[in-house]
This record gives sequence, structure tokens and C-alpha cells, in this order.
Amino acid sequence: AYRADDDYDYLFKVVLIGDSGVGKSNLLSRFSRNEFSLESKSTIGVEFATRTIRVDDKVIKAQIWDTAGQERLIGVLSSSSNFGELLWLKSTPIEKLISSQKRYRAITSAYYRGAVGALVIYDISRNMTFDNVERWLKELRDHTDSTIVIMLVGNKADLRHLRAVLTETAKSFAERENTFFMETSALESMNVDTAFTEVLTEIH
Ligand code: GTP
Ligand code: MG
Repeated sequence: AYRADDDYDYLFKVVLIGDSGVGKSNLLSRFSRNEFSLESKSTIGVEFATRTIRVDDKVIKAQIWDTAGQERLIGVLSSSSNFGELLWLKSTPIEKLISSQKRYRAITSAYYRGAVGALVIYDISRNMTFDNVERWLKELRDHTDSTIVIMLVGNKADLRHLRAVLTETAKSFAERENTFFMETSALESMNVDTAFTEVLTEIH
């Protein structure tokens, strides 16, 4: 049967979160346009892209949101006891902190509003980005419905010689946290479609 380009059964909002540089924007460009960039710049503000996929006999339009990992960390600083972060806090002018905090809150609630799926991304070659997953999960759960489908994603799986986070470690963490888990490479186009499709398929 004929279907118009913008004819779909479901529209699902999916958010990408994780530290700066883990590859959120490249996973999105790989999934939505089959593009990858070695020199991509840090995301400013919020971006989104869509892709329509078919699951069984249904047409699902995925609207995927992407934002910068860095400035969003500001939101957890206030509750932080981490020494490095406190040093950073001390060296930042107070007006700047307040305006970024306000901006952060406004972006955060808009960003998560209506999301039914999430990819929480870390970089398998950087332990810190995996350690921070717990914070991202907390922020995600604080702002979304408990039925949200979450996939933990270990990106840059192509960096085999630089691996810092073991697959098994991440897998058991995901089991404890009740999330799906997959390792991907936006560079090699490995598991990218599968990760997004699995999240979209699990939403209902
Ligand atoms: P922010 O926007 O700052 O939060 O970063 P981001 O998470 O969007 O990261 P981005 O997609 O901009 O990628 C950061 C860097 O990692 C870029 O140089 C990418 O080329 C690189 N990169 C992304 N995905 C992969 C991957 O799968 N493998 C490798 N080797 N590099 C990757
Ligand atoms: Mg980005």
C-alpha cells in the first residue's frame, strides 16, 4: 500500500546523554544520515534528527535529541563533593555559575520532556566517562517516566588497544541498573542501527 513520506504510526522521542566527547553526535549522524566526522565540534545547545524505521508492520518515526555533555555537568556540581570539581567551581565567576545553572535547568527539563527512550553513552577508552554514567542515569530517572527504555552504550569499541572499560564490567552494571547494554562504534558503523532499533522496538 502507498504511504506518504511523513506517514507514521508512532512518534518516539529518544534522548542521548553522556559526558562530552563520548560520541553522542556521531552516533546520531551515523544513525540518521550515515555520516561520521573525525573532527566534530562539541555540540552547542540542543540538536535533533529524525529517522523513520519499520518494526513489524508499524512505521516508527524516531526523533532523537542530542546536547552537549559538558555544560550539563554543571547541574551535578552543586551536589558534588569531588575535589577537582570544587576547584573548578572556585575558579568560575559567580555570575557565570548562576546563569549557567539557570540555563542548565531550563534546558534539562525541556530536553527530557516526553522522552520514551534513552541512550546513556560512555567511551570504552575512558574510565571517567563510565564512572559518570551513574550520574546521568540519576538525572535521567529524576526527569522521566519510570517506563522509559534505557540502553547503556559503550561507544568507540573500535579503539581495541585503548580499552579501559571491560565489556563484562559494563554488562553487569547494566544488569544491576535494569538497562539494556551494547557496545558500538560510530566510526566503524558497528551496532549503531541495532542499538537505536532495539530501544525503539522495546518502547510501547
Ligand atoms: P559533546 O557534544 O561535547 O557532548 O560530545 P559528543 O558526545 O557529541 O562527541 P562527538 O560525537 O562530537 O565525538 C567526539 C570525538 O570522538 C570526535 O572526534 C569523534 O570523531 C570521535 N568519535 C565518536 N565516535 C567514535 C567512535 O565510535 N570511534 C572513534 N574512534 N572515535 C569516535
Ligand atoms: Mg555532541
